[in-house]
Amino acid sequence: MKIIVTENFQETCKLAADMIADVIRKKPDARLGLATGSTAQGVYPFLVEANQSGALDFSRVNTVNLDEYVGLPPEHPQSYRRFMDENLFDHINIDKKNTVVAKGTGDIEENVKEFRDALAKKPIDVQLLGIGVDGHVGFNEPGYVLYDGAHVEELDESTIDANARFFATRDEVPTRAISMGMGDILRAKKLLLLATGENKAEAMKGLLLNEELSAQNPATLVKTHPDVTVIIDRALAKRVGYIQ
Ligand code: F6R
Repeated sequence: MKIIVTENFQETCKLAADMIADVIRKKPDARLGLATGSTAQGVYPFLVEANQSGALDFSRVNTVNLDEYVGLPPEHPQSYRRFMDENLFDHINIDKKNTVVAKGTGDIEENVKEFRDALAKKPIDVQLLGIGVDGHVGFNEPGYVLYDGAHVEELDESTIDANARFFATRDEVPTRAISMGMGDILRAKKLLLLATGENKAEAMKGLLLNEELSAQNPATLVKTHPDVTVIIDRALAKRVGYIQ
């Protein structure tokens, strides 16, 4: 596991965007695994800028997102499809037919199957990850078991609390999501896990301070991956006790 401590969140995002751009330059038809949320949101402006300045071409790139809320249609302001369109896809020269975000409404079982089929089509060249306050990656929540493939996950109370900031009331936050499984994430060729914010300190301790793998902190499983880069800013790294 390669761990990079940056001065601040901006530097984290720039570095992550540069690493993703590097994958695309080496492989113009790369498959990107993408994430939503505040952390990933900081990365996309750098990719948009690179594309708009002519330095990065997305015309042959294809993407697959980690997750989508169950119950939100694609046009809902908080759906992850809408998030991706607004933060990235609408501003770059990607063909939206080549972007996969699981469908959160309709026949959910069928949507999971469709998502599984999409994931099976092509390996992910680089997977961008944030981390939940409870250690989730994608929406693989802590528990006794973790799942290999795409599935429906019941969101933890702490996840619902954390994501309530995006909704008018906490009651509006969906309680379930379709998520890639831990196996899907670990099968990506390269993982980039970004962490920022004091509320991630407990989860990051499990990742950075010992060798334990625990289903109670799903992010710890990325330790087993042969090509994982963790990017964390100085403030959080200090809080975790990773640096003085
Ligand atoms: C988002 C996702 C989640 C987030 C995590 C951190 O697609 O799968 O695992 O990465 O909840 O969210 P933020 O960055 O908003 O703190």
